[in-house]
Amino acid sequence: MPTPTRSRDLSVFVNAALRKPGLVGAVSPSSARLAEQLSVVVPRSGRPTVVELGAGSGAVSRVVGERLPTGGRHLAVEIDPTLAAHLRAAHPGLTVVCGDAARLRALLGEERVGSADAVVGGLPWSLFAVEAQRRMLGEVAGALAPGGGFSTFAYRHAAHLAGARRFRRLLDEYFDEVVTTRTVWRNVPPALVYVCRRPRVPGPAAG
Ligand SMILES: C[S@@+](CC[C@H](N)C(=O)[O-])C[C@H]1O[C@@H](n2cnc3c(N)ncnc32)[C@H](O)[C@@H]1O
Repeated sequence: MPTPTRSRDLSVFVNAALRKPGLVGAVSPSSARLAEQLSVVVPRSGRPTVVELGAGSGAVSRVVGERLPTGGRHLAVEIDPTLAAHLRAAHPGLTVVCGDAARLRALLGEERVGSADAVVGGLPWSLFAVEAQRRMLGEVAGALAPGGGFSTFAYRHAAHLAGARRFRRLLDEYFDEVVTTRTVWRNVPPALVYVCRRPRVPGPAAG
């Protein structure tokens, strides 16, 4: 039985998905199991700065927050104002920035964050044109501290489609190491997680 908080998260998410399907790109929030897989890039010690992109109703934020060591900083970038307001109310420890992930470094600069130790991506990549994907991946790679990690996910049933395969190739342009996890079956729909390390400056556009 979902708790009242989870029920509220779910209704806020579903409302946003119905209002803006082209922005949310999912039918339900990520499961705890998927959130755990995404959180592997969050350092367990020190005072890391972790940035979440497309935090939605906070399903991944909760798990990232539980893993984050005391003294760590957790920022969420969410473009939808209603979801951003919900995140602020439901997650008092989270710094919520209502803005576009394509402006990540400028947004972090406004929060006086120089670099991120981890970026956890919940963006609907398959809905973006290739130029937008490149722009956002460039922002992520440029915002990461040396040694930082980036994680994001793709839905398994769509991973063989041309747009998804192109996005997977782009990850190799922006990161030296990209590891794909096993399918996370306990998610609706089942998903794969990409864990990316060692950001690099890409060469000329490959299309
Ligand atoms: C697939 S949902 C994921 C939500 C949440 N991370 C989860 O896993 O349950 C995608 C989220 O990305 C947000 N989003 C879409 N485009 C964005 C952008 N350019 N910048 C920031 N957030 C964006 C949407 O509003 C939505 O909340």
